[in-house]
Amino acid sequence: MKCLVLGNWKSNGDAAALKTFLADFAPVKRALIDGYRTGLAVPYHLIAAGDFGSAWVGAQNVSAFQPGAFTGEISAQMLTDMGTNFGLVGHSERRHLMGESVAQTRDKLANLKENQVYPILCVGETLDERKQGRLHEILLEQLAALDVFGTADAFAVAYEPVWAIGTGVAATAADVAEAHRFLRTTLQERGYGHVPLMYGGSVKPANAAELAAIDDVHGFLVGGASLDAATFADIDRLFLEAKGL
Ligand code: 13P
Repeated sequence: MKCLVLGNWKSNGDAAALKTFLADFAPVKRALIDGYRTGLAVPYHLIAAGDFGSAWVGAQNVSAFQPGAFTGEISAQMLTDMGTNFGLVGHSERRHLMGESVAQTRDKLANLKENQVYPILCVGETLDERKQGRLHEILLEQLAALDVFGTADAFAVAYEPVWAIGTGVAATAADVAEAHRFLRTTLQERGYGHVPLMYGGSVKPANAAELAAIDDVHGFLVGGASLDAATFADIDRLFLEAKGL
């Protein structure tokens, strides 16, 4: 995949909301553009609850374990069983609210890869870390989990600065360009030059065109604005227009 515009419903939504969304979401019925996907990471119970058409359906997390005696865990095998196309790993809400470690994100990525679910590693710094000038250090720390991949593996990285998530204030185009350039260079050095870099954090129709115009931005991971089909479709359209797709 070269470009991805994906929504993340987080712990929101129910079967009725998904039905309404899919009925209204025009891109689902559109012919596929080569190398591009739109889609939605829904709560587990909705993964198999609707017809996503040509769009991707994703999980927001996956177990770090293999199937077994791990009460309450959803394994990558179970995601495959449900027809899941992609899985998010290391979202900041999991790192900061659930205490997820780099070692756990590594195991989760490996499990997705083994089960042919497209992995997306989320990385990003807190405001304190940014103020302390530790942006690159934090990104490198979190990128360490990518060592489960060979240079031919397909996966994506989403840059989501913690301070821009759910705040309504996206990172500036200059901040995004700088962070993505660093990620691009780092990934290239490791043989992952083909990996798409998504941006997430208060993406909305008002800023989508400006952020999509940045060369090293190959997609979005959209939280709140993906709950409404028309708003999400607008973001998807603005992204495609900016990229000339
Ligand atoms: P918001 O778009 O609501 O800021 O959330 C971003 C996000 O966390 C996507 O994973």
